[in-house]
Amino acid sequence: MEVAQDDHRFRVVCAGRRWGKSVLARMVVLKWATEKPGLYWIVSPTYKQSKMIHWRDFAKEIPPEWIKKKNEVELSLSLKNGSVIELKGAENPDALRGVKLRGLVIDEIASIRNWSWLWTEVLRPTLTDYEAPALFISTPKGFDHFHKLYLTGQKKDGPYRSWRFTSYENPHIPKGEIDQAKKELTEDAFAQEYLADFRKHTGLIYKNFERSLYVIDPFDIPADWSLYRGIDFGSTNPTACLWVAVDKDNNFYIVDEHYETGQTIDYHAGRINANAFSARVTATYGDPSGAQWINEFAQRGIYITPANKETGTSKKNWVTYGIEKVAEKLKAQVGHSVPIVKNQLDDDKNKVSWRHGMPQLYVFSHCQHTIEEFEKYRWMEKAVSQAPDQNNPEVPEKANDHAMDALRYVVCSYQAQNLNPEEQEFPEQNLFDEDGFY
Ligand SMILES: Nc1ncnc2c1ncn2[C@@H]1O[C@H](COP(=O)(O)OP(=O)(O)OP(=O)(O)O)[C@@H](O)[C@H]1O
Ligand SMILES: [Mg+2]
Repeated sequence: MEVAQDDHRFRVVCAGRRWGKSVLARMVVLKWATEKPGLYWIVSPTYKQSKMIHWRDFAKEIPPEWIKKKNEVELSLSLKNGSVIELKGAENPDALRGVKLRGLVIDEIASIRNWSWLWTEVLRPTLTDYEAPALFISTPKGFDHFHKLYLTGQKKDGPYRSWRFTSYENPHIPKGEIDQAKKELTEDAFAQEYLADFRKHTGLIYKNFERSLYVIDPFDIPADWSLYRGIDFGSTNPTACLWVAVDKDNNFYIVDEHYETGQTIDYHAGRINANAFSARVTATYGDPSGAQWINEFAQRGIYITPANKETGTSKKNWVTYGIEKVAEKLKAQVGHSVPIVKNQLDDDKNKVSWRHGMPQLYVFSHCQHTIEEFEKYRWMEKAVSQAPDQNNPEVPEKANDHAMDALRYVVCSYQAQNLNPEEQEFPEQNLFDEDGFY
């Protein structure tokens, strides 16, 4: 009632499993449809889900004397007052264009991929004609687009308002049943699924990625470091190019990114060539299956080496292998030191600070898409019966993987320069304060 009667145009409900999210979705749409004749949608992640979750129940919940017509293929319900309620799946964006809606509900929005694109390009314009309201509902799935919406709704002013409810609040679900789930699940999974808590999602690939550790302020790249590019090609997906600087100790720094969707190859090549780091690049690595792209880029002065797919063993899948190599670089390494290179490095070459027990991979803070992908890139969900093993390796989801792929190409292909160990500088041990600086 609290959500249904609130008058914010954009409402966000973050609630636990079995809380009543889908019932709320239908009740709100029905309330709108009876108040104002027009077209209304409930969008679920897929058409199949829309049908499974909503179709049968809806037909039972709406008084039969209100219904004029039902179409089970279109998942459309026409009411006698002239309103039409349709159930949609987000996996087919072409079926979501070209209409004007009086109201929109998104159920399980956290499971919708490419949300920000779907919203700005496809769904948001359907609400413009009537300044129509929208309700966004989900159980949380980590720090993603739904989390952002939730935070927007927590601000005091503006058209958004958000709520959070736990599964315990549904009086129709026995409390003991939820307590039982608490015993069976990990603390994180229970907090996410039943307490509707935003936790790091359990299926994350780079679980340890923390902004506080891996994201650093940009600094000038010393002239004797090498620079590489990794490119992942895409037209409906983003084309992602990363510039990766490598220091004398093989630490990787993602120093810049180009990340854009739906542009021409001329445009991408123009942007990549115009980047100041490009002049210093030693090699560029790209998707080995993208021969046509490699060709097209070459015609525009960007010469791409297909990424090295060797894994050292025939058993390993090269994607998983590359992910492992990136994960290794992210791991804090005992005895590994990195220079704290601030911008003063060039002015004051003699005073470099070092930090110990550090990872070998960093991202400059303006590379926002790369940072977000690190935080979202996840394994495909699998049934418990299909536990990963050598014949059935884990597979990443085909989403939030563009900068991640570009990085993988560099990490798999880059040959460490043969450093003479005597040339590597290590600071003397007794000069550090407790934070590892001197
Ligand atoms: N307002 C309500 N009145 C009566 N029963 C309700 C109400 N809201 C939810 N329920 C009941 O609670 C149960 C869960 O509802 P619903 O399927 O909407 O939850 P959900 O949060 O969408 O669950 P899931 O996390 O599985 O998607 C159902 O049995 C539903 O009938
Ligand atoms: Mg539901």
